[in-house]
Amino acid sequence: MSQPNRRISGFKPTGPLQLGNYVGAIRPLVEGQHAHPTVAFIADLHALTVPHDPERLRELSMQVAGLLLASGIDPGQTILYRQSDLPAHAELHYLLECSATYGEVHRMIQFKEKGGGSGTRLSLLTYPVLMAADILLHDIAEVPVGRDQRQHVELTRDLALRFNERYGPVFTVPRAVHPPVAARLGDLATPTAKMGKTNASAAGVLFLLDPPDVLRRKIMRAVTDGGTEVAYDPERKPGVSNLIDLISACTGDEAERIAERHATYGGLKATAADAVIALLEPIQRRYRELSPADIEQTLQEGAERARERPDATVRRVRHALGLTSGRRAPAGSPARPATATASR
Ligand code: AMP
Ligand code: TRP
Repeated sequence: MSQPNRRISGFKPTGPLQLGNYVGAIRPLVEGQHAHPTVAFIADLHALTVPHDPERLRELSMQVAGLLLASGIDPGQTILYRQSDLPAHAELHYLLECSATYGEVHRMIQFKEKGGGSGTRLSLLTYPVLMAADILLHDIAEVPVGRDQRQHVELTRDLALRFNERYGPVFTVPRAVHPPVAARLGDLATPTAKMGKTNASAAGVLFLLDPPDVLRRKIMRAVTDGGTEVAYDPERKPGVSNLIDLISACTGDEAERIAERHATYGGLKATAADAVIALLEPIQRRYRELSPADIEQTLQEGAERARERPDATVRRVRHALGLTSGRRAPAGSPARPATATASR
């Protein structure tokens, strides 16, 4: 049955998870998992869109899964699995490519930023369609993601609406949801750029597994702005405002209050370092307690639990596209009109 408030988010194992992942997507998933049926997955097929080392991919997939568990993803509540364990992702990816156009995918910002050369993997161009497949497979209403992923969720909506219009009501139409603060945490060394796990330099990226002294050093060396006044003004003071966002994301305090309480950039940085270390300490401790065997078992069990709905979605899509004889209606049709959850 289609549930109106199901949620999903995916994490690419292309590098170690960083604080932007946590505040932008992991924490919203964890906080919502009791109110919303939730799916979290390791987006390992997405990691193949850029040059990769197979052994490193295996390691990072396990590390990402372990950090999701250590961050509070409860496998008794949330379905947690590895994307490549369910063939339905790759199948729906192809079937959706047959509704998507070159025009709409080649203008996606991430492709423009990372791709373009003749050596670029073709999968980097079509990766937003795989992301759409990930979401549509699970009859999702809400996708908690950082702001950088908004365009991809918009594309997912467009593809779902188009498919439903052409072939009948097959897909639930999802929408993106963003956290109230730090929906796009900046890099500490280049605050106008997004903090990202594959940024060229690690100096401005706070990894979830960085030891406390490394976190503190990176924060104390954060780039600030001209002048000395501590004020929240993302346009004029991007460095200081990013530090304030960072504190706000860790403590829940309001940006203006944080600015008022600090007289110097040094004091602001010290507060940020304390707040980040306090936030990450319990996650790091829980991570160290997990064994690879437990993580692997959780992923296997998650894949078994995850399978049914994606398989039913693919059967509906095949039927709608004319790939079945048409005599037998597919099981698992959406219980409600598939566009009912569409909202902005
Ligand atoms: P990725 O690292 O690209 O696999 O991203 C996984 C999730 O973390 C996505 O929902 C991203 O939007 C989110 N995310 C990544 N970096 C940031 C950031 N700097 N600020 C907020 N959210 C982020
Ligand atoms: N593309 C996302 C990113 O780069 C990861 C992702 C893949 C995802 N599939 C998804 C996020 C489905 C949400 C839902 O961060």
